[in-house]
Amino acid sequence: MTGPLAFILGHPVSHSRSPMLHGYWLKRYGIDGSYERADVAPADLPTFFAGFRDNWVGGNVTVPHKLAVMPYLDRIDDAAGRIGAVNTLWLEDGRVVGGNSDWIGFIGNLDELAPGWDGGSGRAVILGAGGATRAAVYGLLKRGMEIALCNRTVAKAQELADHFGKGVTAHSLDELPGLMKSARLLVNTTSLGMVGQPPLEIDLSRLPADAIVHDVVYVPLETNLLKAAKARGLRTVDGLGMLLHQAGEGFRHWFGRTPEVTAELRKLLADDIRAKTPGA
Ligand code: ATR
Repeated sequence: MTGPLAFILGHPVSHSRSPMLHGYWLKRYGIDGSYERADVAPADLPTFFAGFRDNWVGGNVTVPHKLAVMPYLDRIDDAAGRIGAVNTLWLEDGRVVGGNSDWIGFIGNLDELAPGWDGGSGRAVILGAGGATRAAVYGLLKRGMEIALCNRTVAKAQELADHFGKGVTAHSLDELPGLMKSARLLVNTTSLGMVGQPPLEIDLSRLPADAIVHDVVYVPLETNLLKAAKARGLRTVDGLGMLLHQAGEGFRHWFGRTPEVTAELRKLLADDIRAKTPGA
């Protein structure tokens, strides 16, 4: 008899570090369960969900399935509905429920690495208007922040601002220097700076001295943006913690224990990223 089995559903999914992360917790807490890769092509989702209850206690969902899984679910929680994407699945009385814990990862990472980030006044300036942006906006609104979204394609930022409503405004990249002057938090949620992508090159000189710079990119761990922020003496937060902190929600549902994000876990993943990323 094997213990509960959870998955990371994606296509491809070989690059995912989630098995390493959940494997660490299963071992640490001596839980007889496992967490496996489920590489499922879009056309095979119906078969995957037909066998769901017989094979799995739940799992995580990644690219390209974060939206595609929705029709197969019995319920979607508030976060997944507002963010418009599902990253965690679990069973409740035999019903398949979809949630989104990316915002918990985003906020948990800030709370851990930049405690007090949401105190005082000032707004968050977010670069981007994609999936990661939506999770960040959902979390920041919950913490009472005002948000300025800056994106290359302003229409996409405007769509997000309209979707989330009060407290969120949309801007072009040209407006960034002016917005920075009153920013408490600057967040990159674009793919710029990620290995294989062009770097994000922006002038940080207008940010207040107590501003925090957060990059959700974590491969490499120290992006050009974070290097530039450190050089200016600003507090920085890298993106690895978002991966670490989003994972606990699923683990709790599947294996019945709230896991801790330890320094040892962070090091395990950081070492893996450095080993596999030239120049990281
Ligand atoms: P994800 O869902 O992972 O967040 P995405 O939806 O592809 O990814 O969004 C990528 C973000 O990076 C977008 O905000 C995109 O800007 P556009 O909406 O204008 O496409 C931004 N981005 C990607 N490449 C960019 C570039 N070269 N310059 C500026 N922004 C870029």
